[in-house]
Amino acid sequence: MKVGIDKIGFYTPNKFVDMVDLAKARDVDPGKFLIGIGQNKMAVADKSQDAVSMAINATSEYIDKIELDKLGLLVFGTESSVDQSKSASLFVKKALNLPKNIRTFELKEACFGLTAAIMTAIDYVKAHEDKTAIVIGSDIARYGVATPGEVTQGAGSISLLIKKDPSIMEINSETSMYSDDIDDFWRPNNFKCALVDGKYSTNVYLDFFKHCFEDYTQKQNLKTSDFEALLFHLPFTKMGQKALKLAIEGQDPETTARLLDKFVAGATYGKEVGNIYTASLYMSLLSLLEVDQPKAGSLIGLFSYGSGAMAEFFTGRLVDGYEKQLAPEKHKEMLEKRQKLTVAEYEEVFNESLKDLAESQEVQSDANGWYFAGTSNNIRKYS
Ligand code: CAA
Repeated sequence: MKVGIDKIGFYTPNKFVDMVDLAKARDVDPGKFLIGIGQNKMAVADKSQDAVSMAINATSEYIDKIELDKLGLLVFGTESSVDQSKSASLFVKKALNLPKNIRTFELKEACFGLTAAIMTAIDYVKAHEDKTAIVIGSDIARYGVATPGEVTQGAGSISLLIKKDPSIMEINSETSMYSDDIDDFWRPNNFKCALVDGKYSTNVYLDFFKHCFEDYTQKQNLKTSDFEALLFHLPFTKMGQKALKLAIEGQDPETTARLLDKFVAGATYGKEVGNIYTASLYMSLLSLLEVDQPKAGSLIGLFSYGSGAMAEFFTGRLVDGYEKQLAPEKHKEMLEKRQKLTVAEYEEVFNESLKDLAESQEVQSDANGWYFAGTSNNIRKYS
């Protein structure tokens, strides 16, 4: 049975900081952020945007186009959870009027969360072939003002519909996984920003990629040249570029040029948005499809990495006519119409978004679409 991605929705908040401005404010050569890290801009979520509101906005992009009576599962992967008990998916379900007779829950393993949701959804659809599943990744990457990780922050969400005979990409059943209990990046319950051993985290990421990629290509008898594109979890675009370098070492010039070109297309949105943790790999897939439009039938390799750490390499094949499901103009407009913040404004918005709300407190928003409207008796409200 062919199962995979049938719809993609994407959302990022309406504010950003330019990396040249940030570099100047931090007294760093802009080349470090633009080339050394590989980021141009960073999306900033004000306190009216959280994992839930961004997820509702991303899912809204396609919800009117799907058969709701077929929906059986809704899984929300995030490491920016808004409640220690209730699943973020229930807020989404209510906002979008989704059926009550579905299974829904939240899951977590750092940036691996959306991949875990996708794999769960594929198994679910294989067991219930007339059913579909919505899977969401939605996150705000926060390290803190003037920390080394600051330049790798971001905010956004990707929502996918998984079904049989999908219209965008069939996902192959074979995968290669690798996991270990390590402390490269984590966020204890009493912390609002992530803790990270930055250099170590980048080394572990590359090590896990090598394990998964070698295992997959050996088991499936594939060569690097068989891939039309290799996509990566992009905490910052240079990270993926480093992993790609390992894969293309010793390849012929044509393969090298193609994989580099496709990587650049896949990193286009990430360079403008920053790290969106669970959804970063899938924003890269969307970016490749919308910026480059590879031909149908192309084999795409995807590397998912979640700190802590869990990694998986898998592949998909693009379906004939997949481009009809995309919205490149709309996404271009969403990115272009954002408000540019000065570094001082960003710092204020950032610090404000960390503050705890009162038991009942209204939150105003200048964003289009859904937003977090505040609390009422400690219950979160979305408008
Ligand atoms: N022009 C061009 N390049 C320059 C430059 C200049 N003027 N100045 C410096 N650079 C280059 C450096 O040579 C370096 O390149 P290489 O990595 O190729 O050696 C690059 O810029 C970065 O410089 P530093 O290593 O000095 O950067 P740093 O110490 O400030 O920290 C970081 C970089 C470790 C990534 C830090 O931003 C961080 O901790 N980020 C968060 C952690 C992270 O994203 N880890 C990724 C793996 S974990 C994961 O993937 C899960 C997740 O989502 C978090």
